[in-house]
Amino acid sequence: MSPFSLQLAGSLLPLVAIASGVSLCANQTSLCQQVDCQLPGRVSYSGSSAYISSQSNYYTGNERDLEPGCVFRPTKTSDVSHFVKLVAASNSTSTPEFAFRCGGHSFFAGAANIDGGVTVDLRSLDLFELSADQKTASVGGGSIWSENVYPNLEPHNLTVAGGRITGVGVGGFVTGGGLNFLERRNGFACDNIYGYEVVLGTGEVVYASADSNRDLWLALKGGSNNFGIVTRFDLVTHSQGLMLGGSIDFNVTQTVLDDHAKAFSSWMDVQNFDPLAVMEVNFVWDDGAWSLADAIYYLAPDLNPSVYEEFFSIPNQIENNLALKNVTAIVEESAELVPSTVSRAIQMNYSFKNGNASIYSQLFQTFVDAVDSISDVEGLVLDFLMQPHPVTNGTNSLGLSPNVTDRVLVDIGAAYNNAADDDTIDAAVQGIFDHHVQILQDAGLFLNFTYLNYAGANQDPIGTYGDLATLQGVSKKYDPHGIFQTAVPGLFKLFT
Ligand SMILES: Cc1cc2nc3c(=O)[nH]c(=O)nc-3n(C[C@H](O)[C@H](O)[C@H](O)COP(=O)(O)OP(=O)(O)OC[C@H]3O[C@@H](n4cnc5c(N)ncnc54)[C@H](O)[C@@H]3O)c2cc1C
Ligand SMILES: *[C@@H]1O[C@H](CO)[C@@H](O)[C@H](O)[C@H]1NC(C)=O
Ligand SMILES: *[C@@H]1O[C@H](CO)[C@@H](O)[C@H](O)[C@H]1NC(C)=O
Ligand SMILES: *[C@@H]1O[C@H](CO)[C@@H](O)[C@H](O)[C@H]1NC(C)=O
Ligand SMILES: *[C@@H]1O[C@H](CO)[C@@H](O)[C@H](O)[C@H]1NC(C)=O
Ligand SMILES: *[C@@H]1O[C@H](CO)[C@@H](O)[C@H](O)[C@H]1NC(C)=O
Ligand SMILES: *[C@@H]1O[C@H](CO)[C@@H](O)[C@H](O)[C@H]1NC(C)=O
Ligand SMILES: *[C@@H]1O[C@H](CO)[C@@H](O)[C@H](O)[C@H]1NC(C)=O
Ligand SMILES: *[C@@H]1O[C@H](CO)[C@@H](O)[C@H](O)[C@H]1NC(C)=O
Ligand SMILES: *[C@@H]1O[C@H](CO)[C@@H](O)[C@H](O)[C@H]1NC(C)=O
Ligand SMILES: *[C@@H]1O[C@H](CO)[C@@H](O)[C@H](O)[C@H]1NC(C)=O
Repeated sequence: MSPFSLQLAGSLLPLVAIASGVSLCANQTSLCQQVDCQLPGRVSYSGSSAYISSQSNYYTGNERDLEPGCVFRPTKTSDVSHFVKLVAASNSTSTPEFAFRCGGHSFFAGAANIDGGVTVDLRSLDLFELSADQKTASVGGGSIWSENVYPNLEPHNLTVAGGRITGVGVGGFVTGGGLNFLERRNGFACDNIYGYEVVLGTGEVVYASADSNRDLWLALKGGSNNFGIVTRFDLVTHSQGLMLGGSIDFNVTQTVLDDHAKAFSSWMDVQNFDPLAVMEVNFVWDDGAWSLADAIYYLAPDLNPSVYEEFFSIPNQIENNLALKNVTAIVEESAELVPSTVSRAIQMNYSFKNGNASIYSQLFQTFVDAVDSISDVEGLVLDFLMQPHPVTNGTNSLGLSPNVTDRVLVDIGAAYNNAADDDTIDAAVQGIFDHHVQILQDAGLFLNFTYLNYAGANQDPIGTYGDLATLQGVSKKYDPHGIFQTAVPGLFKLFT
């Protein structure tokens, strides 16, 4: 008898057909009812506070607008396993579909929420445990970096490769790659995972690490939600005391743009590589005005790292709040650089090899020109976000060469008020994207790599990793019935 039948036998529920090791309650036709029957108290419906807590917590209105039939909030790994078994068992009677969420910070509708099905809200899986040797931090698959990861590490002068803005979840961030403060020295967040506890499509719980289920371990490093639900991440810790962090805001003029084109090109030059330095240039049209802010981070307690000299000397600075801070404080401050939540949003991204200043000037100019045609869209915030690629060690599924330091990643993001403007904005962002890609292709600098966590619904990031066949093989091996391909429609799938 399966543990589930044992557990349920005592609850005097009418049980029927035993399938895939799980008994179904009789007379419960929907997946929501079935889960509610078997895991009482964990399922909430429209209007209840647990349902609203999930719905209201997504970053974009695109996700908030979907209405799941119910929200299931597991508190332990076995709840997640039980749930997936129910999904598998229910297949014969209906087409159950579900989505699962962590921090809810992915942009587009359906990535981590679903209309009519079950949304699994993982946020109660918020374990934090530091190993005795302090080399590993084990965190639950529903953890939020700023809430239950950084604050627990800081007292030990430790940190991990994680999110840089409050509210971002561990689950989506790490399975999609993860741009982080340590990335130029330690790579993507996914490069810094010793192991994953995963609930597979069969409901089986397995551990994936360098030594066990290695193929799954690699697939999860960039393969997103395609292989299972990660219920625990074992993260590599790094010592970290105070670091330099903050931003410099500029009054935008042509000179400021030209100076940034020069300074960024030179900052990205392999000769100037400094593994402790990471930065972002945020060039933004914000509801009627231009702004430009450089977010600057340096992993040592150094107020004046020479790698930033050229940026520090650009004139027209309005505000500079660079100081030595702890990671928690920097993450909280960085939240001020972006809206805390947005009504409608899309984004697209691309990567390229560093070029000369003229390349960057062309990218800026094209962006400025494009805003002219959409500047009257209500609430428009259009962001050109430019940052270096993490320097990966290559042990992941992203298909990027190890130790390469001169790669740049651009994210073009748009936020605005009304769904009625969706088509206009889609076209404008696509237009900027196409134009930029053209400039970079002409210069021989374009890289065919799409960062999944900044990818648009119409993009195919996993296709750009270069080895889809391997990931498809891992999916067939660990998820033979394709639960995470068919029953979980959200985000980027492996089979089309
Ligand atoms: C304000 C803001 C700041 C950001 N900052 C950064 C940044 O600094 N660096 C960066 O790289 N990206 C950043 N991003 C992008 C971010 O990494 C992605 O949106 C990421 O998906 C967010 O993870 P989440 O858990 O919050 O997302 P969710 O929307 O909850 O989930 C995203 C996807 O991951 C899957 N997923 C969630 N949990 C799990 C799990 N436990 N196991 C398996 N799959 C899971 C979900 O099914 C879903 O498909 C930022 C986004 C925003 C809005
Ligand atoms: C379950 O059965 C009861 C009667 O035994 C019936 O009243 C009820 O409508 C049924 N519920 C569902 C969801 O079928
Ligand atoms: C981090 O910095 C903030 C702001 O300076 C401070 O309030 C907090 O106590 C610091 N946290 C730790 C663990 O040192
Ligand atoms: C953390 O670093 C600070 C500053 O170097 C030091 O005073 C403190 O004792 C350290 N804490 C631990 C737990 O090592
Ligand atoms: C990359 O880092 C991970 C995590 O520390 C490690 O397991 C892996 O062996 C490293 N790969 C290489 C090529 O060093
Ligand atoms: C920004 O530049 C404009 C035009 O040069 C100038 O009028 C304005 O005073 C500047 N604002 C600040 C805060 O420096
Ligand atoms: C990458 O750099 C590390 C550290 O310098 C080195 O140990 C490793 O061999 C390099 N890997 C490759 C593939 O060049
Ligand atoms: C800048 O790079 C482009 C493309 O690589 C090249 O065509 C152009 O001549 C370069 N410009 C300068 C000023 O070096
Ligand atoms: C990121 O870029 C790739 C192509 O470069 C694209 O397919 C994908 O949709 C983009 N992501 C977003 C969010 O736009
Ligand atoms: C990027 O690579 C994918 C997969 O190899 C391919 O389908 C696509 O056409 C490429 N795109 C460009 C712009 O080269
Ligand atoms: C569900 O049933 C359909 C039709 O019988 C089948 O094609 C599909 O593979 C099944 N899916 C799962 C997850 O078992």
